Amino acid sequence: MLIDTYDRVATDLRVSLTDRCNLRCTYCMPEEGLQWLAKPDLLSDEEIVRLVRIAVTRLGITEVRFTGGEPLLRPGLVSVVEQCAALDPRPKMSLTTNGIGLKRTAAALEAAGLDRVNVSLDTLRPDVFKTLTRRDRHHDVLAGLEAARDAGLTPVKVNTVLMPGLNDDEAPDLLAWAMDNAYELRFIEQMPLDAQHGWKRDGMITAGDILDSLRTRFDLTPEGEDRRGSAPAERWLVDGGPHRVGVIASVTRPFCRACDRTRLTADGQVRTCLFAREETDLRGALRSDAPDEEIARIWKLAMWGKKAGSGLDDPSFLQPDRPMSAIGG
Ligand code: GTP
Ligand code: 5AD
Ligand code: SF4
Repeated sequence: MLIDTYDRVATDLRVSLTDRCNLRCTYCMPEEGLQWLAKPDLLSDEEIVRLVRIAVTRLGITEVRFTGGEPLLRPGLVSVVEQCAALDPRPKMSLTTNGIGLKRTAAALEAAGLDRVNVSLDTLRPDVFKTLTRRDRHHDVLAGLEAARDAGLTPVKVNTVLMPGLNDDEAPDLLAWAMDNAYELRFIEQMPLDAQHGWKRDGMITAGDILDSLRTRFDLTPEGEDRRGSAPAERWLVDGGPHRVGVIASVTRPFCRACDRTRLTADGQVRTCLFAREETDLRGALRSDAPDEEIARIWKLAMWGKKAGSGLDDPSFLQPDRPMSAIGG
């Protein structure tokens, strides 16, 4: 079991498959991209599958999320999913992606055993998409979303970050569109995890702002406190249901006390939290032929160092050295 000193048990593993991305979202990375990890530094497909196997057979992990950067850029993704689906016990598996490559891969991913996907989409307007992501790929994301839904990678969740003056007037339109298309929409408060360290609390659209904006057009009723559990998203029923909308208020209503996550970076470091400042190396152990029990022991020890929370409210808060695209979202 991956337990920490606050008695939280991690059952959800987030695996970053690459730090690269084919978009350049302004709240994430600069136009020129970042200093990408070198190929030999990345875990190989075999190393990833071995770590997932150790996590599900020895450490109590039941859910695996593949993230990035953009995980669809990883050539071996379908094979990794297939091998993880063959594990006993079989973990639930999902993918968080920008959606661009889904049109091509959704059916193969479903056949390999992927259960569902979350797709990032911040706007319904192609011109705003181009400004926000610095790439003209809006159409590809929409096509990817449809492919995921048609392949049965459901529920398809859509993640939206609202930015002042860019897309913050779109919340009700996005919700109407998501309901029409049977996607579950969640709005995410922007977190200080950008490579440029440009985040400012007063420049952020809060959960309160988002709900106010949605309520200009929809009636929202909370789904119930007890329904959130360890999920980052709080959910509301729209106009009495059955459609829902979620808000991930990591800044104004953090869920750290119920956190059930552990993370693995693309270069094989365990992180206990998005905002952790420490990492624990598993790649070195893998590459020095450590047996499974030794790797499990190092992982358990790492979790013992997990902090109570993100520390965002501490006056001494320091943004982690690596940005979200390198940590895994
Ligand atoms: P499901 O609802 O189970 O599909 O997943 P999710 O919402 O946890 O995952 P997703 O990858 O779609 O992430 C949505 C947002 O939640 C992203 O902005 C993530 O960075 C954020 N998020 C994921 N894990 C954590 C976490 O441990 N802490 C915080 N603060 N935010 C997280
Ligand atoms: N704050 C909040 N969400 C972010 N994402 C990327 N960077 C940030 C940030 N700084 C979102 C992406 C994607 C999800 C994995 O996280 O838009 O939907
Ligand atoms: Fe790529 Fe996601 Fe960062 Fe956008 S937020 S640049 S899609 S890693």
